[in-house]
Amino acid sequence: MPYDFFTPQPIAGARAYFLRDIMHNWSDAKCKSILQNVAAAMDKDYSTLLIDQYVLTPIGADLRAAEMDILMLLHTSGIQRTVPMWENLLSSAGLGLVKIWSSNGASESVLEVKKL
Ligand SMILES: C[S@@+](CC[C@H](N)C(=O)[O-])C[C@H]1O[C@@H](n2cnc3c(N)ncnc32)[C@H](O)[C@@H]1O
Repeated sequence: MPYDFFTPQPIAGARAYFLRDIMHNWSDAKCKSILQNVAAAMDKDYSTLLIDQYVLTPIGADLRAAEMDILMLLHTSGIQRTVPMWENLLSSAGLGLVKIWSSNGASESVLEVKKL
């Protein structure tokens, strides 16, 4: 169904919410707004938010992730985020990081997130 993620999430209490390649397009302020709309709809004990996105290492990021960071900055004023950046952003929206799922040590990851 069509949905504007800057408006309240219409599906409340879903088992899972999924955002793929969304967060890297937006500033922290805009991401906070998107996340607050998801958080408001989440059931604290039942819902999980899955965010499919790069997680950058503080130094020595792999080329693809670093390249995407620069691309997002140039095209959307967006950014790829490190673990502390993700933690700060998520907590600003009343969310907490449970686990980062990555394959083969690559930066491309799925962040498992719960409502605090
Ligand atoms: C980088 S694409 C990712 C698309 C898809 N999730 C994927 O992984 O292939 C970003 C998406 O955000 C959508 N988008 C932009 N603003 C939006 C809004 N306010 N509400 C919902 N979707 C929006 C765009 O239409 C685009 O499909």
